Amino acid sequence: MLGLGTLSRVAREVRRDVTAVHDRDPAARGVSSLEVLAAWPGVQALLAHRVAATLHRAHVPVLPRAISATTRSITGIEIHPAAAIADGLFIDHGMGVVIGETAEIGVDVTVYQGVTLGGNGFATGKRHPTVEDNVTIGSGAKLLGPITVGHGAKIGANTVVITDVPPNTTVVGNPGHPVRVEGKRSEGPDADWIHLPDPVANAIRDLSARLGALERRLADPGAAEDLEPSAQVRPLHPVRGQHPAGG
Ligand SMILES: CC(C)(COP(=O)(O)OP(=O)(O)OC[C@H]1O[C@@H](n2cnc3c(N)ncnc32)[C@H](O)[C@@H]1OP(=O)(O)O)[C@@H](O)C(=O)NCCC(=O)NCCS
Repeated sequence: MLGLGTLSRVAREVRRDVTAVHDRDPAARGVSSLEVLAAWPGVQALLAHRVAATLHRAHVPVLPRAISATTRSITGIEIHPAAAIADGLFIDHGMGVVIGETAEIGVDVTVYQGVTLGGNGFATGKRHPTVEDNVTIGSGAKLLGPITVGHGAKIGANTVVITDVPPNTTVVGNPGHPVRVEGKRSEGPDADWIHLPDPVANAIRDLSARLGALERRLADPGAAEDLEPSAQVRPLHPVRGQHPAGG
């Protein structure tokens, strides 16, 4: 039997979900709570997850996964019934979100579409990320393995994160790397991961300059144009073991 305590807890959780939408989704300005409940897939997925998680904790067979699978087909959001989710999670848009079995999500976390909190292999036990309070995870980001994302961190859209993220750090790219710590640009000799040299583009530029010079030399053999020394192409990694091109 549902007690009064349970009903008031459910009402509090639903209010919190709707408040998270109003606070963090600019598209929800002026939208009624009823409309949010009816049309925001993130809110619907969380409501369904709470039911599935309660049944899962009570060791009810089949039903928790059936609820999770049905919710996924309606909202595009797949949350394992065993995932631990605190209050205030806001999943915007929803489609393509996967939250794995041993994932843990703290208070007031924001997740956009296409985010995966997944494992990175066939390991058992704790194998999904722990996301602390007030983290924002951009669309398409993949967080893989039993890593911890520190409170207040921001994960850029399409970032792939496979190592721990310190608190209040902005991480972007693949592999994810910090670009802001406590709002400040990261410093140090290896800090600029955004503007990396491109050795392949450099080699192609050198080769096309040399080709141009050779064409001019062919067209006018008497011209006194010095040819640049041949472009050097160095392997990026020392070749170890059997050559991959070998049969
Ligand atoms: C990462 C993010 C949270 C911005 O965080 P921030 O702390 O305000 O950082 P900044 O905007 O100052 O960007 C920091 C640096 O990372 C770069 N950057 C930002 N987002 C990036 C991304 N997704 N991928 C690669 N680089 C990115 C910026 O160009 C900037 O580079 P710089 O140091 O050369 O100037 C934001 O860019 C982002 O990706 N948000 C996700 C939003 C989203 O998914 N929206 C979907 C709505 S439907």
